[in-house]
Amino acid sequence: MNRMLELRARWTLVTGASSGLGQELARSIARDQGGHVLLVARRRDKLEALAEELRSRHGVQAACIVADLSRPEDVERVYTEATQGRDVHAVILNAGVTYWGEALKLDWSAFQAMLDTNVTSMVRLSTLFARHFVERRTEGGLLLVSSVAAFIPVPYQAAYSGTKAFITSYGQALAQEVRAQGVSVTVFAPGGIATELLEKSGMSNRFKAGDLGMMSAEECAAHALRAFVHRKELSVPGLINQTLALAARLLPRGFLAQRTAAMYRP
Ligand SMILES: NC(=O)c1ccc[n+]([C@@H]2O[C@H](COP(=O)([O-])OP(=O)(O)OC[C@H]3O[C@@H](n4cnc5c(N)ncnc54)[C@H](OP(=O)(O)O)[C@@H]3O)[C@@H](O)[C@H]2O)c1
Repeated sequence: MNRMLELRARWTLVTGASSGLGQELARSIARDQGGHVLLVARRRDKLEALAEELRSRHGVQAACIVADLSRPEDVERVYTEATQGRDVHAVILNAGVTYWGEALKLDWSAFQAMLDTNVTSMVRLSTLFARHFVERRTEGGLLLVSSVAAFIPVPYQAAYSGTKAFITSYGQALAQEVRAQGVSVTVFAPGGIATELLEKSGMSNRFKAGDLGMMSAEECAAHALRAFVHRKELSVPGLINQTLALAARLLPRGFLAQRTAAMYRP
């Protein structure tokens, strides 16, 4: 396998590209790597505006697939449309949703949509694309966006932190299975990022841009891309998040959950 993942003049698919981290990842791929981008999310207007911006500013190719990744039929269509007449070389599975509040008050359909988006769509798309890369011997790469919430049980984000724990474990295991076949899998686990996700979940009342450890989407995207092109298998950006990840390995999980509950209690 080539040591570095080459994105220049190649197609990278980015899910959740209509805002936040995904939008900045797509911008950075076009601006800093000269890569073509295939943008996926539900909001067509946001995707089309970004595609136009990247084509005109950076001279790359950009295309959009409007899809709801909580729907299995849309997930299958993303793979089919993405690979029709196009050599997809890299895939960033970043789309995700959260719920902040008491687990007992989480609406069942909202839980299922979160599980389908954060877990099922990631497993399905990573499987389809990893197989695609193996069969074509393209030495492609996959990036799965997780969270430091994967390392610590987070009360009041119980289901969300569970989805990220799944993705981290799954992604690291998949990386071992496919590396000998020339495919890299990178799990990226950021801490707080100032994005729409905080507004939508109500967490922006508690966690804000400028707080200790909070990153901008642009800064976080730069960390993620560095890890991705270097084919790192697990990457945690920033000293504070790395300290948290280390503490999670050293301290009892019950103690950590108790401390975290105090921070996250609405
Ligand atoms: N913000 C944080 O503090 C933080 C911390 C750690 C990890 N993360 C992770 O980082 C990733 C990106 O989050 P963000 O902070 O950038 O949030 P964001 O600004 O809310 O972006 C989420 C993206 O996911 C897309 N998305 C959500 N549900 C979707 C669905 N059913 N189908 C298709 N696309 C869907 C959204 O697009 P549409 O609404 O247009 O569909 C949007 O583009 C997530 O996996 C999140 O868990 C975030």
